[in-house]
Amino acid sequence: MPIFNFKQGDDVQKDGGYLGTVLQVDTRRVSISAKDEHLIRASIGKLVALRRGTVDDWLIGMVDRIVRQIVTADMTENDEEHEDNSNNDALPLSGNAVTVTLVGMVRWNSEKSQHDFTRSLLDLPDIGQDCFVLKGDFLKSFMGLLVKKGNTEQALEIGKYALDPDATAYLDGDKFFQRHAALLGSTGSGKSWTVATILERATKLPSANLIVFDLHGEYRELSYADHLRIPGPDDLGAANPELLYLPYWLMNCEELTAMFVEISEFTAHNQTLVFQDTVFAEKKKLLEAENKSEVLNSFTIDSPVPFDLDIVVAEIRRLNDEMVQGARGLKQGSFFGQFSRFLARIAGKLNDRRYGFLFQAPNELHTYESFHSLAEQLLAFSGEHKGIKVIDFSEVPSDVLPVMLGIVGRIIYYLQFWMPDEKRHPVALVCDEAHIYLPRDKGNPNQQRALENFEKIAKEGRKYGVSLMIVSQRPSDVSTTILSQCNNVMALRLTNSNDISAVKNMMPESMMSFMEMLPILDIGEALVVGDAVLLPSRISINKPDEEPLSATIDFWTEWSRKDVSPDWVLAAENMRRQRRKGS
Ligand SMILES: Nc1ncnc2c1ncn2[C@@H]1O[C@H](COP(=O)(O)OP(=O)(O)OP(=O)(O)O)[C@@H](O)[C@H]1O
Ligand SMILES: [Mg+2]
Repeated sequence: MPIFNFKQGDDVQKDGGYLGTVLQVDTRRVSISAKDEHLIRASIGKLVALRRGTVDDWLIGMVDRIVRQIVTADMTENDEEHEDNSNNDALPLSGNAVTVTLVGMVRWNSEKSQHDFTRSLLDLPDIGQDCFVLKGDFLKSFMGLLVKKGNTEQALEIGKYALDPDATAYLDGDKFFQRHAALLGSTGSGKSWTVATILERATKLPSANLIVFDLHGEYRELSYADHLRIPGPDDLGAANPELLYLPYWLMNCEELTAMFVEISEFTAHNQTLVFQDTVFAEKKKLLEAENKSEVLNSFTIDSPVPFDLDIVVAEIRRLNDEMVQGARGLKQGSFFGQFSRFLARIAGKLNDRRYGFLFQAPNELHTYESFHSLAEQLLAFSGEHKGIKVIDFSEVPSDVLPVMLGIVGRIIYYLQFWMPDEKRHPVALVCDEAHIYLPRDKGNPNQQRALENFEKIAKEGRKYGVSLMIVSQRPSDVSTTILSQCNNVMALRLTNSNDISAVKNMMPESMMSFMEMLPILDIGEALVVGDAVLLPSRISINKPDEEPLSATIDFWTEWSRKDVSPDWVLAAENMRRQRRKGS
């Protein structure tokens, strides 16, 4: 029996799913002419089936445009005129028409004795052919083909299809992470919950490896994750496995220069040169002391080798104050006075406790071996480490955020890059609130460096097992280079028209009308498009068992409470301490 047993022959119009006949075919877009009484069966996003020849193979399409029009005798007479004015895209102007975008085929697989769904299209429908809307049991049989593939305990189950709430929606976990994913939606649309749902599925895998950049501390209570925190001013000096220090020598030359050198200054060039030379010399000294002859032969200024910043500063100060012997007594050295501002700027940064995670790490983190522990802290997923790591950036001031994330991103990328192929284990970086640190408009040099690091991951990470999951409520503010590399998009409700256009720009032309649903999606409902789903679909995402902490504040309810006691002194003190500690 055929998979879709629609009525045929004279009875075809009596079939409950009958929609109409094919009027026009334009590559993947097919116009169906439908009578009024049948047209009501169509709505945007519904699936239709068209039989392919006489076999039990079917072309599957998705309704993306419906035009209902009254045809009067007058209009039919003027038809020719209308046609002259129309372009290729226009629908026939007389009568009702439903435009359908073909999304794939259902084919009988005789080897496996079952039907399969593929996204490739072998041919197109014929003019005049009957078209049916999939519903009821036929829709269930079809959805069954979609879920068959991943139906195991370890599959990435994310929710239910809106078309058929009995059908469980799975993502192809390989494809989803292989070529980056974007999770976009207005504030409160359910992004963080969706992230938690995906993380929960990942915890079922024995060697999952995901790192979440948590900007609001939303994920800090998830029990299945390792929690790392950037040390705030009053943690400084303490070494605690939970604290993630990023000692300054992890920065590459460009990052260091962006941090200390002011490009617009007249002496910027000399500052850079002297700084780099001294840093290089100091790194070399350490390698010699450690007897690392192999590294000595090939290291560069960018290599993450510890050096003593105090010695570098002392050397720059010496050059700044240097007097040399001239023909007529002492004269000023060639750099005399050139570095005064540079030195002041370095001192400013070193003393700024917000930068403590960089410049005030405990001594044991400045050893040659400490880089090994950092690599482990970031990437290890077994033994005492869990496969999911949440790095809490919630108390980091926003101006240092890009520096920090840029370093973390780059280090992870290069650790993966230099890992021999056979030992490499893939890792995904979940970048929540990406518009803050991966902006479309490049900001100051520090932000620019950070952005470049992530753009590199977006472009090349796939080859080295580094995947990005970009999460943002302002897709129009996120770097287009990064978004355009995301092959899978989960779009939750979006209302801002700029953001909607940004999402549409990531989609093929044929998805445009599907995307019209963005503003009307429910909370926790997503349009999922990309190679991780067989079919672009509207999916209601499962609630996670452990919910992320929601930052939603119920103003009216809070205002109606009597027993409230905000502590202004504490807030004022915390602002001074740069730390949001209780009592
Ligand atoms: N899948 C879901 N099912 C039911 N309710 C949901 C779902 N996802 C989210 N919600 C509801 O929406 C609220 C906000 O969700 P969430 O914190 O994930 O939003 P968000 O998109 O991350 O917002 P923001 O951009 O502000 O971080 C949740 O507190 C929850 O009540
Ligand atoms: Mg959120």
